[in-house]
Amino acid sequence: MTQDELKKAVAEAALEYVESGMIVGVGTGSTANFFIDGLAGMKGKIDGTVASSEASADRLRGHGIEVMDLNQTGDLQLYVDGADESTRHLHLIKGGGGALTREKIVAAASEKFVCIADESKLVDTLGAFPLPVEVIPMARSYVAREIVKLGGQPVLREGFTTDNGNVILDIQNMTILDPVELETALNHITGVVTNGLFARRGANVLLLGTESGVEVLK
Ligand code: A5P
Repeated sequence: MTQDELKKAVAEAALEYVESGMIVGVGTGSTANFFIDGLAGMKGKIDGTVASSEASADRLRGHGIEVMDLNQTGDLQLYVDGADESTRHLHLIKGGGGALTREKIVAAASEKFVCIADESKLVDTLGAFPLPVEVIPMARSYVAREIVKLGGQPVLREGFTTDNGNVILDIQNMTILDPVELETALNHITGVVTNGLFARRGANVLLLGTESGVEVLK
């Protein structure tokens, strides 16, 4: 199977978590896009969605699916999104597409986070994928120096501005042995909006697309 076929298979498996009358939290990226396309086939069943990015909101609206404001919906029962890396403990790196802050907000406000990923995303230790950190532009250099003190090599994502008007520093080549501790340490640097570690609030379920079918990790 191709990587896209694996992504589509997990996206379709995630549709089974969608129940009648739900407002569904929807993530960002190529795997989440397959979920959005699948959701279009059952849009009469749900009350609406909350999107974690402008790109996903546009795609949802393109299918005629209502996109709602999280401030109006209250907490959500379900959030479905991809990841850049996941461990078997369901600690994640996200934000390769730059939508990490809104993704983290929707995940925080959701009872169940179902992560969908092809098997290439499963790792023993997080950090081979550059860890994104969203930063207020004025604090960029200061935050970069603080990241170096933590042992990271921050690289500015050139020509990229987040949906929130901020910049991203991608931390290269960090072996993340304690994701909860690093997530907390990064969030304590003044000027950091958030970082792409989803460890304090990881996924509740990982649907992993493999050659032999969709594996469910909890
Ligand atoms: C978006 O900011 C990311 O967190 C995505 O969820 C992540 O990059 C996974 O994207 P793909 O499904 O395209 O690999």
